[in-house]
Amino acid sequence: MGRFRDPQDPLFQALNSSIAFDYRLAPYDLEQSLAHARMLARSNIIADDDLEQIERGLAAVREEIEGDSFVVTEDDEDLHMAIERRLTEIVGPVGGKLHTARSRNDQVATDVAMLVRAHSLDARELLQRLMATLVELAEHHLDWRMPGYTHLQRAQPVYLSHHLLAYFWKFRRDLQRFNFCMTATDDLPLGAGALAGVNFDTSRMFVAQELGFGGIAENSLDAVSNRDFVLDYLAAAATCATHLSQLGSEIVLWSTAEFGFCEVADAFSSGSSLMPQKKNPDAAELLRAKAPRVVGHLVTLHGVLHGLPLTYNKDLQEDKEPLFDAIDTVELCLRVAADMLQSIEFNRERMAEAASDEFIAATDVADLLVRRGVPFREAHGIVGGVVRAAVERGKKLSELTEEELAELAPQLDGEFYDLLDERSWLESKVSDGGTATARVRDQLAQARQVLREARA
Ligand code: ARG
Repeated sequence: MGRFRDPQDPLFQALNSSIAFDYRLAPYDLEQSLAHARMLARSNIIADDDLEQIERGLAAVREEIEGDSFVVTEDDEDLHMAIERRLTEIVGPVGGKLHTARSRNDQVATDVAMLVRAHSLDARELLQRLMATLVELAEHHLDWRMPGYTHLQRAQPVYLSHHLLAYFWKFRRDLQRFNFCMTATDDLPLGAGALAGVNFDTSRMFVAQELGFGGIAENSLDAVSNRDFVLDYLAAAATCATHLSQLGSEIVLWSTAEFGFCEVADAFSSGSSLMPQKKNPDAAELLRAKAPRVVGHLVTLHGVLHGLPLTYNKDLQEDKEPLFDAIDTVELCLRVAADMLQSIEFNRERMAEAASDEFIAATDVADLLVRRGVPFREAHGIVGGVVRAAVERGKKLSELTEEELAELAPQLDGEFYDLLDERSWLESKVSDGGTATARVRDQLAQARQVLREARA
């Protein structure tokens, strides 16, 4: 008879139910419910005795969930209903008072905001560990020479420390992005009710304080429809995963026989089932490959939210799986990246050999001409000619004779050979943010300061 009592179609149930994944909200839901119940009692909306029973019941439910003995029933559409159902089984009808002045719409937004906040803190911790690892590695490889690349072509030599620290700053910006997620989750949605507010004189600020929110969402319609903080988390996670992918990709490349710049520990690599000589840098490959999955989750949620009318729509239930998977993926990748870097071995000789390719001193030779008054553009052309001639004649730059040099670039003299001899191309990069050791030391000091501030 009553259309709300008809049994639900099982396929619809399968589509509609979120309990299979939203159980992850349980710790936040329980904490939120406690705060809400206390507020109801303080505001004389429920009796102190009701509160006592609800507190006792919620503690029992928590024990069941933590002890893995919580049984989900077929009718439990989502975690929120499952907890309330179980609470009522334990304490009786008074359990039904918990949902006074609350809707699942403001409830779920609050749980998700709490979860995003907690995992933004976790991401911060993990990023700091990774950044500290990079600083340590940079310190240990301060003056190890290697080629710097553009277009994956040897461009100018740099120190390995400088190269590693480049990632430090990328992860530092990720840290700032996760920091912003703390701001994005600072307004409590709870108390907005289904969408319009509630019919009781509640104290939202009390709940906010209990749960660690800085304030309350000012507009009830916005409160229940807002998932910006999930987008913010996913955006931070996507960029962070992309940085991890770039790092992983370089380690894969550097682990090849062709490069031979590094070797990852056995714990992070695999052998081939067929070819006994192989050692594959699997961990780094997977760091490389995980990024698009996280980026995909960001795009998915944008798709869900796009065009969505106010306020709560069931579509919003689709925020959870992308978020949860992004959290798991990025946290796992951050852990593995730090561990893998802690045990990586670099090959000083191979890197130095690649860096001593004289052709990568071409910019320095051009600058020598510039210091003699030749306009840079012209110097660039002259040195290009010298390099081409050397390549054609199968010679290194320093193997060109003085006669050849006089013919190719009369503006160059003996200093040309000194410059190639000196291997001074790195130490000459003294501009701020450059690769000269003095500048890398400055950079290390800055990086350590960033870590100190982040820990404070
Ligand atoms: N499971 C829902 C979600 O995750 C909870 C809110 C449901 N609200 C409702 N009015 N059906 O979004």
